[in-house]
Amino acid sequence: MITFKEDVFKIDTDSSSYVFGLNHGMLESMYYGKKIRDGSDYYALREKSSGGYPNTVLTENDDKTFVMDNLCLEYSFPGKGDFRNTAIEIRMPDSSFVCDFRYSSHKIYDGGYKIPGLPFAIKGDQTLEVNLIDLSGLELILYYTVFSKTDVIARSVCIKNGADKDIYIRKIMSMQLDLSDSFKLLTFNGLWARERHKDEKNLSYGEVVCSSVTGASSNRQSPFMVLADRECTQSSGCCIGYNLIYSSNHYESVQVSGYDKTRFMGGINPAFFEWRVGPNDTFFTPQAVISFSSCGLNGLSQNMHGFVRENIIRGEWAKKERPVLINNWEATYFNFDEKKLLEIAKVSKDLGIELLVLDDGWFGLRNDDTTSLGDWYENRKKLPGGLSSLAEKINEMGMMFGLWFEPEMVSPISDLYAIHPEWAVKVPSRKPSLGRNQLVLDLTRKDVRDYIVNAVSNILNSANIQYVKWDMNRHITDAYSQELGARQGEFYHRYILGLYDILERVCGAFPHVLFESCASGGDRFDLGMLCYMPQIWCSDNTDYYERVLIQEGTSYGFPLCTMGAHVSAVPNHQTMRTTPLESRFNVACFGLLGYELDPTKLSDNEKLAVKEQIKFYKKYRKLFQFGDFFRIKDGFESEHAVWEVVSADKKQSISGFFQKLFVPNPPSDKLFFKGLDEELFYKISCREQYLEFVPGRLSDDEGFLSNKEEYGGYGDLLMNGGIKLNQQYPSIRYNQGSRLMGDFGSRLYIARSEEEK
Ligand code: GLA
Repeated sequence: MITFKEDVFKIDTDSSSYVFGLNHGMLESMYYGKKIRDGSDYYALREKSSGGYPNTVLTENDDKTFVMDNLCLEYSFPGKGDFRNTAIEIRMPDSSFVCDFRYSSHKIYDGGYKIPGLPFAIKGDQTLEVNLIDLSGLELILYYTVFSKTDVIARSVCIKNGADKDIYIRKIMSMQLDLSDSFKLLTFNGLWARERHKDEKNLSYGEVVCSSVTGASSNRQSPFMVLADRECTQSSGCCIGYNLIYSSNHYESVQVSGYDKTRFMGGINPAFFEWRVGPNDTFFTPQAVISFSSCGLNGLSQNMHGFVRENIIRGEWAKKERPVLINNWEATYFNFDEKKLLEIAKVSKDLGIELLVLDDGWFGLRNDDTTSLGDWYENRKKLPGGLSSLAEKINEMGMMFGLWFEPEMVSPISDLYAIHPEWAVKVPSRKPSLGRNQLVLDLTRKDVRDYIVNAVSNILNSANIQYVKWDMNRHITDAYSQELGARQGEFYHRYILGLYDILERVCGAFPHVLFESCASGGDRFDLGMLCYMPQIWCSDNTDYYERVLIQEGTSYGFPLCTMGAHVSAVPNHQTMRTTPLESRFNVACFGLLGYELDPTKLSDNEKLAVKEQIKFYKKYRKLFQFGDFFRIKDGFESEHAVWEVVSADKKQSISGFFQKLFVPNPPSDKLFFKGLDEELFYKISCREQYLEFVPGRLSDDEGFLSNKEEYGGYGDLLMNGGIKLNQQYPSIRYNQGSRLMGDFGSRLYIARSEEEK
């Protein structure tokens, strides 16, 4: 619900309010927090500056009470007295950087709005547009769309050039948020194989920047971040989450001023950015989203999860349960043929797997990563009958067939590069730098985009391909397009607009296909990609405990139904660590389960275990993929992590207890629950799992061995008192009652209310 009364805008969601008002024609931010009732005049929330501030500039010469430098502003600009980080920097028609945008009008309407060329959130409830005008004729429009149920507000900005000369935008944030409280900042950072690790720091004077310049949203710093009260925990306290519906270079900054004001802003990274806007032209920023929660970090994550599920992910697969897949990458790398794939498929089918994904190496002459990207036709040596015959054989076994592509790339050794060297991104006078032996295609060009759309579509039309893994495996360097001339500052943004155009066309033409986005694992895990593809490969790292951290970090901003999570072989290919098969499964099932190993090499006991895993996952798949997720114990801060996923009707939950290293003579473990119904009685059991090591047991002929654990209690007991779990192995005298966790051990606990059959 959006209202405008006595110069004050109030945007309400179900549980939050966002208030700003006119002040000398500028927009003064007044409040963002827990929902407040209507009816106050909101004077209490205004900045009081009756005495002015020494050594500041008076924007209005005759009014010493109006000092931009200590005002919380909705959207700041340079040149008139705000010396903090400003949201916009434009070379104006007069070549200066001075602008002064003041309120001219606004409108409020039902629904959301479309952003030309960019992905955006769907099914918004209501939108506010505020128009501001500068004397040069430039118009600035601020958009606010409400998503009431999930307490989300989407924001973006548009510039209209009403002057008669070109302007050059050097910086244009999607949003700014000025607050007058102290916060801690949570960001999610990493590199390849350790994406989205949580970092937490208290903010103090100065600026913290989170950004990417790789051409993707990147594995280095996720655009998702959180500003939280210093005391905020997983289950209590206030916090604000931010994310950006964008997949290229992003920038977020938090700056604390000498007057203790906190300024947050986010949008396209201004680095290397310069966009010309001609007379009567417009420029639209990507949409940013913010959400407020007074129920701690779990509350915030649930807002974000609901929003992503309802307003970001679209299409046929949005709410459908996703298939359990087998991917041949770590099983074979490039070394496979049809016979091998069919062997893998046959065993997989017996195990209960539903989809076979053929990864890299099926096209051109690609037997390693040095050639053939761009040559999207089958390698008949490996696949004599081509993809259609392979897909048919897989389908006959009762499985779906899926395929890997990396359409944005070209190998210098390829037919495509031989014909079209000018299609690769490179500066004409320089030798381009290679990443994974490959170059990036210039998606700013229409001919390149058409080529990609045709090449991918031809393959998808040639065989029954029901799933596509869309990969992107190098950062962009040598950024230059032969078609952009002097406007190279537009390259990165035009690249991603080009990609969105391709995805619009390809995903639109194949609505039944399940698309999974991937970029060297999780290098492009963002809301932009999720508008086209409902799931993303979280990371190339499938080590059990690394995955606990990566998936937990990801869970702050993204729901489980977005996270591709696979069980791989040991020793793990990324960490060389050996961890129990059951633990690899237990973490992967909090996401979209797949296997990335050679199932023909599993022992009989392992096969039995995997069969049981898949049976279990299918039984609870809806819960794992679409349930409400809680972080019960923070894996970044303790020796074990605990997660829980609860069904919408609260009658069922599954908790994962993920141990890192075993502590000899260990202290007792407690399992707390969240999100249950206080009044329902729940029976709790532990998923039966195969134990690989039992002291004193020399062979694994005994098959399944599991410590029976059974507990029970009403929801209020489980949520407030928790369960003191059975003792872990006390370091001597193993007995059947001990929980044999060991290093990297884990357990799943299923809570079922009496009413649940
Ligand atoms: C990237 C992906 C992997 C795999 C390889 C294939 O690294 O993240 O999952 O598809 O490419 O080359």
